[in-house]
Amino acid sequence: MEYDIIEKVTELSLSGLRLDAKLARAARLLLDAVPYEQCVFYILDPEKKVFEKKAFAGEEITLIESYGETQGLPGLVKKKKSPVEIYKKDPASTVWEGVDDAGLKGYKSALAYPLKDKENFFGVVYLKSARKAEVSKMKRRVLGIMALQASSFIKCADLAESHERIHRELKEIEERLASSEKLMALGDMAATLAHEIRNPLISIGGFVGRLKKHLGPGSPCIPYVDQVLKEVGRLEKLMNGVTSFVKDSAVNLRPDDLNGIMDEVLEIFEDEFTAHGIQVKKAFSEVSIGVEVDREQLKIAFDNLIVNAIQSMEHGGVLQLSTSLEGGRAVVSIADSGGGIEPRNLGFIFNPFFTTKTHGTGLGLPITNSIILRHKGAIEVENNPGVGVTFRVMLPYLRQLRSAG
Ligand SMILES: Nc1ncnc2c1ncn2[C@@H]1O[C@H](COP(=O)(O)OP(=O)(O)O)[C@@H](O)[C@H]1O
Ligand SMILES: [Mg+2]
Repeated sequence: MEYDIIEKVTELSLSGLRLDAKLARAARLLLDAVPYEQCVFYILDPEKKVFEKKAFAGEEITLIESYGETQGLPGLVKKKKSPVEIYKKDPASTVWEGVDDAGLKGYKSALAYPLKDKENFFGVVYLKSARKAEVSKMKRRVLGIMALQASSFIKCADLAESHERIHRELKEIEERLASSEKLMALGDMAATLAHEIRNPLISIGGFVGRLKKHLGPGSPCIPYVDQVLKEVGRLEKLMNGVTSFVKDSAVNLRPDDLNGIMDEVLEIFEDEFTAHGIQVKKAFSEVSIGVEVDREQLKIAFDNLIVNAIQSMEHGGVLQLSTSLEGGRAVVSIADSGGGIEPRNLGFIFNPFFTTKTHGTGLGLPITNSIILRHKGAIEVENNPGVGVTFRVMLPYLRQLRSAG
């Protein structure tokens, strides 16, 4: 008889059933083996610190759904980490031998085994009877074995769950890798295209320039020619952007002064600030900040950040710029009041070709990022939806240059 049960529970462990179904069957088998009328499996949720009823068999009288981790008989078993058996002396009470457990109401004897392995405590298997249950030594051993088996069900289910989670995570990583490979292929294509477009663009620019000279200053066609030249210039800039983003062009580092670079960048935008009613507030470090940078590339990086800020404040706003030294790093902060980035877009803004603008290229931020990374720096974004965005660019600090003044 005992061996039968052990065999059945072992078979159960090899079945493909879900944990609760396995435990429910084990509960049934237990009730067949020992003289109890209710068998409940409580599993401990270590985060919530509660025992939850996972499966049961037998009578449904005073079936408790959950216990706090120190409550009732399950709490006592957890504390002792060993089986607890109790009998009722006073038939009306729910407090037996110091254990206060509402689940004991209407019963006369109870027996609970811990479900555990060497390191972990998973829960308890809780048996109750309305009579004074007599359990032989042999049956107790069987109960012990079954509790061990049930512990192994739970452990297997835990392992299966973490296995599944790892599998899911791996899959996500694989997908991300595949999409970054796609991006790289796209980048190669963009570089080739940009190269092919740039050469004819240069000749278009050159020839239109010559045409302008031939037309002479009084010609009514001059505005058209200027328009062509302007558009050609814009396209050239875009193509330069694509190539500078795609090819990992080396930076040509030279000692420079960060405040000076920022001033030069700001100068280019003076007219635009006025045109859009943008107030510029400068808070530059009083001492010059020495950095070792590729001035032209760094200017492109800041240029992109300021263009984005201006575009976010088409109808006016405040642009706050500061330079400082923080923890041995040179920091440039560019803050706008343009309403910020929609939170759902925030994760994508550094992706090539991601844009929310009708005529955007989606290359500004990825180019900026790659330039800053090539300077061994970093960019941080602080987004305040409805208010504005602050981009903070951190660069390695070289030394304090002598003050210009
Ligand atoms: N200062 C900013 N304020 C609000 N949104 C911004 C700002 N800077 C960047 N973004 C968002 O990030 C996107 C990507 O920017 P970017 O790479 O420069 O490409 P583009 O400017 O061509 O759209 C923008 O389309 C915009 O949605
Ligand atoms: Mg941009």
